[in-house]
Amino acid sequence: MSGSASAGVLDAVASRTVVLASADAGLRERLRRVLLGLRWQVREAVGGAEAMAFLEDRRAEALLVDSWLPDLEVGEFAGQMRLLYPGMELLRVDGVMEAGGARSPRRNELLHALREAQDAPVGSLSGMNDTAVWAAAPTVIPAGGVPSATWGKTESRVGRTALRESVLERADGAGVAMSTALPEMVGMSSRMLELGRMIRLVAPRSTTVLIEGETGTGKEVVARAVHRLSSRSAKAFAVLNCAAIPETLLEAELFGHTRGAFTGAVQSRTGRIEAAHGGTLFLDEIGEMPLALQAKMLRFLESGELQRVGDNETVRVDVRVIAATHQPLEQRAEERAFRLDLYHRLAVFPVEVPALRMRVDDIPLLAEHFLEQMGKETPRKQLAGETMPLLRQYGWPGNVRELMHVLERGAILCGEQPEIGVSHIRFGRVTQG
Ligand SMILES: Nc1ncnc2c1ncn2[C@@H]1O[C@H](COP(=O)(O)OP(=O)(O)OP(=O)(O)O)[C@@H](O)[C@H]1O
Ligand SMILES: [Mg+2]
Repeated sequence: MSGSASAGVLDAVASRTVVLASADAGLRERLRRVLLGLRWQVREAVGGAEAMAFLEDRRAEALLVDSWLPDLEVGEFAGQMRLLYPGMELLRVDGVMEAGGARSPRRNELLHALREAQDAPVGSLSGMNDTAVWAAAPTVIPAGGVPSATWGKTESRVGRTALRESVLERADGAGVAMSTALPEMVGMSSRMLELGRMIRLVAPRSTTVLIEGETGTGKEVVARAVHRLSSRSAKAFAVLNCAAIPETLLEAELFGHTRGAFTGAVQSRTGRIEAAHGGTLFLDEIGEMPLALQAKMLRFLESGELQRVGDNETVRVDVRVIAATHQPLEQRAEERAFRLDLYHRLAVFPVEVPALRMRVDDIPLLAEHFLEQMGKETPRKQLAGETMPLLRQYGWPGNVRELMHVLERGAILCGEQPEIGVSHIRFGRVTQG
């Protein structure tokens, strides 16, 4: 991404590398020029995911991060980078730096570069973050933890979704404020916050994710959040429910087929895997995939290559696979109903979405959320005082989906009344969907 021919010459002599993570092209350009002059090799990343990929690929001596990133929460990203690369200088472009390390000459040099970039002619200021504070005496962020109060200050400037914040306990007992809740995943219970944290960590990579959880817990919500937070978010999110498609058609649906490959194949067709090229493929109910197809899926996951049904040609496809199951897959593998090798290949990063009865404290928030949603079409209902204890006591076999349906039913049953009372709550058959 670094540009001109003169930059190329300088790159060749520079021995130290700095990764520059900012969505602001103007800012990157100005910093790059100054840093190249100081004989730094510069790698530019438009977001956190790209910066992480650079750092995994090659060591860097320093990381400069903008105060807002399009794909990741800056505080959490910086905290993770600090843990993964303890020796690397880590500075925010507004001059905020992390503690843990004396003022090294290298750090001073980077701070100098930041000020130089600030003082550059106004002509090249286009696109610069005009709210950035170019602190003369940088604010210090405690090592290992990034208080959102500090990092959050400039976050609202690009109209991003406000993240709900919570205080997590660190292993050493110190409270660390972190944004872990995801906007699409209502719930502030510790299990949901931990799940949010896991999603943020894994999302920027292309790692395969296996989502386990009972029906209606929100597995698809999780899969979509992973996609949204990844660098693939602008590309397709393709869904295939392995339980919903007859076994005989599933292979062609996944891998595509040529014309005449089988009876009824009057035209050739691109499969779902290819359709998701560059994006994410969500394989729902993976436990239902027939054993023969599991072998083929494993081959694809290992090689990144596939053959359409009836075709000898090999096609390379770049997709990130996310799989979900409501059945304990490891147990299915032990029973030989699921291939153990595929299970291991899918479960590179397993996450479990907890059942609603394990997080009853989320019920009031979820209920509010659904009543609010329903209130957009019909008059907004409230829960009567005695209704919440009833909702908290119930076992919710259909989990969040069932809660949504019970409230919808309650809103209908209470008619013109503004409150959903105990008599309007009917727990019924679990609705699948
Ligand atoms: N944490 C949540 N916040 C808001 N809505 C949620 C949450 N979890 C689930 N939902 C909603 O509940 C419904 C069920 O969620 P989803 O389809 O993701 O569940 P699932 O685990 O995939 O279920 P199944 O196993 O039946 O496929 C959806 O309408 C979803 O939007
Ligand atoms: Mg689902």
